[in-house]
Amino acid sequence: MGYHRPHGVQRSYELFARAQSLIPGGTQLISRRPDRYAFGVTPALAERAKGCRFWDVDGNEYIDLQMAVGACVLGYADDAVDAAVIEQIRRGPAPSVSTTIELELAEELTATIPCAEMVRFCKGGGEANAIAIRIARAYTGRDKIAFCGYHGWHDWYLAANLESTAVLNDYLLPGIEPAGVPRGLAGTAIPFAWENLDSLEQVLETHKGEIAAIIMEPARSFDPKPGYLEGVRELATRHGAVLIFDEVVTGFRLHIAGAQGKYGVVPDIATYAKAISNGYPFGAVAGRREIMSTAADLFISSTYWSDPITAAAALTTIREYKRRDVQTYIDRMGKRYMQAFNALAEQAEVPVRFAGMGCSFVLQWDFEDPDPLLRKQATTLFIQECNKRGIFAAGGTHMCWAHTEAELEELKPRWAEVLEVLHDAIRKGDIAGRLEAEISKEAFRRLVR
Ligand SMILES: Cc1ncc(COP(=O)(O)O)c(C=O)c1O
Repeated sequence: MGYHRPHGVQRSYELFARAQSLIPGGTQLISRRPDRYAFGVTPALAERAKGCRFWDVDGNEYIDLQMAVGACVLGYADDAVDAAVIEQIRRGPAPSVSTTIELELAEELTATIPCAEMVRFCKGGGEANAIAIRIARAYTGRDKIAFCGYHGWHDWYLAANLESTAVLNDYLLPGIEPAGVPRGLAGTAIPFAWENLDSLEQVLETHKGEIAAIIMEPARSFDPKPGYLEGVRELATRHGAVLIFDEVVTGFRLHIAGAQGKYGVVPDIATYAKAISNGYPFGAVAGRREIMSTAADLFISSTYWSDPITAAAALTTIREYKRRDVQTYIDRMGKRYMQAFNALAEQAEVPVRFAGMGCSFVLQWDFEDPDPLLRKQATTLFIQECNKRGIFAAGGTHMCWAHTEAELEELKPRWAEVLEVLHDAIRKGDIAGRLEAEISKEAFRRLVR
């Protein structure tokens, strides 16, 4: 079959071994490590990407259902975004004073995002959250942060694990040692449980008058329970805490105005990165004037935050979302992908389905046996068999503009074969025996569904 990998992944793993000897961990982003997928089978290094496809260093082609962990909503190397980037490159990188594109982008964002009266720019999601936390602490004069979810790699967040290395187990990865995070930050980052207003209220009452900010993802792959976000908003206001929505994943993906636009609950600050600039490094912090203006007097400053090239990518990406009505498209097309896969799974009698929103959905197993190892093995086998058939899959799927009916038609026979392998393995109780790859290392856990 044409889509079976003609060359294996030998070169990928030779180069990855060299990368590991020079780059601690081998990659810059944990989610790009091949051991998060099906190590030994999953390609480790890519050569180029276009639309919803990439080609690995062995020359194999993949339909990508991960899309740079969600960072490319228009598809790789989108012509409109790339034309704007190339045009800006010709005008030169940031000179000694700022460029007008920052103002244009600030105007576009404040016209698009409900909470945005003022904005600041940066280069990524963790950075945007660190800026938002600094502003909230300065504005309130308080130190403690209530959080629910994953918000990046910075000290303010990993401080949650200083008192016990188990705190972040349910939000990120189990047993993270906060080595390198100052012990003095112990007790400053306090978790609360998703969709549990009592849990948040308890944190706010226990630390009364001390919580600077409540930071959370407003949604992920499923809509929040009706009334939940409204309840959080009310608690934040009552306790004088700045409400920060981390819209790094949701912003511009599930609605052009983000989760706050979809659910009609407006935070004080929102942060953006992954869906803002179609793969070019950019982040934004947007919020109410009264709070954001605090930043004018704070030391929040970095040379490359003025970069007009990636600002041009962000501006064009947002304008293209509006012009093409991308959010409606990916929601509709994602539902078609989910339905098609689920129908095939049912036909093949495999207890698995895709569930979630059209723009972003997850793989769910319905085994009677509650053993988590079984699910991990099954997910690894699913990824392995997808990879072997030119599908780059993971536990979660991010839809993009370049996923069309044509790709769905290509996927269907490949998914059918993958499901056949799964069916046989499950029937014979031999999932582990079918693995050619190492079991997938724990993906980031998400309390926010
Ligand atoms: C909700 C959320 N916030 C923050 C981040 C961190 O963003 P970045 O990797 O750009 O620093 C991520 C990344 O996965 C995320 O999912």
